[in-house]
Amino acid sequence: MNILIVNGPNLNFLGKREVSVYGNKTYDDLIKYLLAYGTKKNHQLEIYQSNHEGSIIDFLQEKYSFFDAIIINPGAFTHYSYAIYDCLLSLNKRIVEVHLSNIYEREEFRKISVIKPACEAQFYGKGFESYIEAIDYLSKED
Ligand code: DQA
Repeated sequence: MNILIVNGPNLNFLGKREVSVYGNKTYDDLIKYLLAYGTKKNHQLEIYQSNHEGSIIDFLQEKYSFFDAIIINPGAFTHYSYAIYDCLLSLNKRIVEVHLSNIYEREEFRKISVIKPACEAQFYGKGFESYIEAIDYLSKED
């Protein structure tokens, strides 16, 4: 499969940000890990990160048609970006939401994902493995 992985704000700061929540592996480590897994499983992965809501939407609108499915970790946009939600709805693609941390066991505001209804599944709380679960889910259901 051709899978686009999109990461939102502050994920580029992995390894520096709240190490007790997100661990000490860096964003580079995440990319390398996912690309290696993609190669092993015969998937083509493209990985994009931005700290800007509009850039994420622009990128999705430009690129979605080249992919079979999208995995998105929108960072804090998860909890309030109706603009990203609307964008995801408009794409008519298979979309899976992922989070490194368990958003249901943290602050109250994190328990709400406004993008969840635009996604067919949600994986969270397993660190890098949340992304692996999303890739496996997409390939199983393909
Ligand atoms: C996150 C969880 C969000 O609540 C947070 O704002 C993030 C990362 C995660 O991967 O656990 O930036 O999406």
